[in-house]
Amino acid sequence: MKWIASAAFGMEGMTGRDLKHMGLQNVRVMDVGGAEFEGGFADAFRANLWLRTCDRIMLVMAQFEARSYEELFQGVKAVAWEKLLPADAAFPIRAKCVKSGLMSPSDVQKIAKRAMVERMKGAYGLDWFSETGAVFQVDISIRNDLVTVALDTSGEPLSKRGYRTWNGEAPLRETLAAALVLQSGWHPWQRLYDPCCGTGTILIEAAFIALDRAPGLTRKFAMEAWPCAPYEEFEAIRAEARARFEAGSRRALNVSGSDINPEAIELAKRHLKQAGLAGRIALAVKDMRDVMPGTDIPAGEAGVFIANPPYGERLDNLRSAHAVAKQLGALHERFPDWKLCAFSADMGFEREYGRRATRRRRYYNGRIECEYRIFEP
Ligand SMILES: C[S@@+](CC[C@H](N)C(=O)[O-])C[C@H]1O[C@@H](n2cnc3c(N)ncnc32)[C@H](O)[C@@H]1O
Repeated sequence: MKWIASAAFGMEGMTGRDLKHMGLQNVRVMDVGGAEFEGGFADAFRANLWLRTCDRIMLVMAQFEARSYEELFQGVKAVAWEKLLPADAAFPIRAKCVKSGLMSPSDVQKIAKRAMVERMKGAYGLDWFSETGAVFQVDISIRNDLVTVALDTSGEPLSKRGYRTWNGEAPLRETLAAALVLQSGWHPWQRLYDPCCGTGTILIEAAFIALDRAPGLTRKFAMEAWPCAPYEEFEAIRAEARARFEAGSRRALNVSGSDINPEAIELAKRHLKQAGLAGRIALAVKDMRDVMPGTDIPAGEAGVFIANPPYGERLDNLRSAHAVAKQLGALHERFPDWKLCAFSADMGFEREYGRRATRRRRYYNGRIECEYRIFEP
């Protein structure tokens, strides 16, 4: 079977690399949208459980060209839906159209639904479908007239790991936080410090990487409710992931952080507890101007700062964003042997920081265009 690990702009390569690292077959990084791979249900389950930067795992049911609604109808009807969907399956449809003849997602949804119902009527000899059973979310994407019909095996996006139930000021998506940690070049035996950690997302994702904790360990995936799913294999894969986390938990963890806002630190503590990391990460209420070698971080030790400072995407808070960029530059001067990585939408960041970044990468946080800047020691 062919699968798509969908990933946001900038994270396709990382997702492809992780799939290859997991030993999956015929991995191909797509120009947009993520990476493809081949395998069975168990492989897709493993990808759901372990991929850190991917949004969803989709099962590709068909790919064909369509320039008219009739072609779309016939293409969707030709899929052997009855092989996977039981008679009581719920099959909601979402659609996305880019640079194509068919550009109305609501019409695409309607036609595809009609085609699926026609197919299922013939297969099951029914006139009406209750849709009260397991959910098979159908995803139709049309790009340059090429239709991809897929089933969403994840359910909730994979960024929802289950530990974050409270949102502070502009929290970072968990997948993006993991990407920032992976991209920073940090190694778990080094120290990592987030000087404006907010609700703790970067710290938790770093700890998951260091402790070999599968990001999806405590959540469910839509495919687990499918009658065609090999549950025993899924359970064995989850048990192995649990054992890896238990073994990893005995490792030392050099991850800590602080934030000026006591409420954010309170939320971070709750998230740590929900992530199974209570007491493993030192957190403090602190202005980053007061983070000093010898007190917060042992003197003479090198490491990596990863910071997601206030964005300043609106004019009224741009000034405070600039001030924080300057404070980060000063922090780096106090720790000249450290690497500092900052993720921000502030395009004047480097001027305020006082140095040009060694490397930059562009990402989107929601709709906001951001830059990840890496300042080497
Ligand atoms: C964009 S939020 C970080 C969100 C965080 N990554 C998360 O996932 O929750 C920016 C954070 O910077 C903190 N902050 C602003 N000025 C600061 C300063 N001078 N020292 C420390 N933290 C500061 C804010 O309190 C806020 O929590």
